[in-house]
Amino acid sequence: MAQESLELLSDTTDRGLDRDCTTLSRHVLQQLQSFSPEAQDLSALMNRIALAGKLVARRLSRAGLMEGVLGFTGEVNVQGESVKKMDVYANDVFISVFKQSGLVCRLASEEMEEPYYIPENCPIGRYTLLYDPIDGSSNTDTNLSLGSIFSIRKQEGDDLDGKATDLLAAGRNQIAAGYILYGPSTMLVYTIGRGVHSFTLDPSLGEFILTEENIKIPEHGSVYSVNEGNFWQWDESIREYIRYVHRTEGYTARYSGAMVSDIHRVLLQGGVFLYPGTVEKPEGKLRLLYETAPLAFVIEQAGGRATTGDTEILDVVATKLHQRTPLIIGSKQDVAKVESFIKKGH
Ligand code: AHG
Ligand code: MN
Ligand code: MN
Repeated sequence: MAQESLELLSDTTDRGLDRDCTTLSRHVLQQLQSFSPEAQDLSALMNRIALAGKLVARRLSRAGLMEGVLGFTGEVNVQGESVKKMDVYANDVFISVFKQSGLVCRLASEEMEEPYYIPENCPIGRYTLLYDPIDGSSNTDTNLSLGSIFSIRKQEGDDLDGKATDLLAAGRNQIAAGYILYGPSTMLVYTIGRGVHSFTLDPSLGEFILTEENIKIPEHGSVYSVNEGNFWQWDESIREYIRYVHRTEGYTARYSGAMVSDIHRVLLQGGVFLYPGTVEKPEGKLRLLYETAPLAFVIEQAGGRATTGDTEILDVVATKLHQRTPLIIGSKQDVAKVESFIKKGH
């Protein structure tokens, strides 16, 4: 082989290898440019989240072949929603993974009425994990995209009454957030306040490998993503916005039933995802601590915006753990367009 071709080949191989070596835990340390105890903690935390994601992905990939994986448990959770077997499994996966980590003293999840305490970790583990174990549960039994959403906060105070009220602070207090998307491949997207980065699970390695660094959301995109079946329940201003996109060239609708996948599309290609308040649920459906705040952190870090229509999501201070908020999230221009209808309506 000619010298030039050899050089080219080894160049490509090197780049390929460099890429394969950028695992999630290494990336976190690189981001913080340090091996300080704090950086080590964050790297270990992200590694545990990745392990939980791999366990959930493994179960989902064989769900149709195994007994007792799909379907409902017959229970109703604290949100008043029917619980799926996968919700319970994924909820427990995160608990098991973090029990062994030593780093996390509390876990708060959409599926648990009260936070789960791991007392043996409390003297050292000052972190709390907030999570939505399975996002898009209704997609579970039809082999469609699902997600898990996570957020890490540092515990403030001693939480002596066991009510975890420090978690009600604004979403700007998150130190890390992101999601795992169980699609044709499994991806992990995270931020620690230094941009947004995506990783793809290489099943042959069992590792999340860096896919894209410093993802920037387009300023505008053609997608609007909303459950239009709720049209009759919305405020007139949201209906006016939807009428506007219906009669304007250049918009296209996409809605999967799992906000993780819808927002992932918006992150990469631009546009807006909405879950406004409805007559039945004036605050909307989505939960602040486990869904809207973590995704708002990601989208803001990518250069987009997330608002309730009134307040930036990351500025909302909760009054209770399972608080819900309306959500308008995505490209700056598209979020502003929705807001312009809301302002007109007042
Ligand atoms: P979860 O499965 O955690 O309850 O969340 C589902 C959420 C969100 O992912 C999705 O966009 C939305 O609920 C779908 O709700 P609708 O069926 O009301 O559109
Ligand atoms: Mn959810
Ligand atoms: Mn869920």
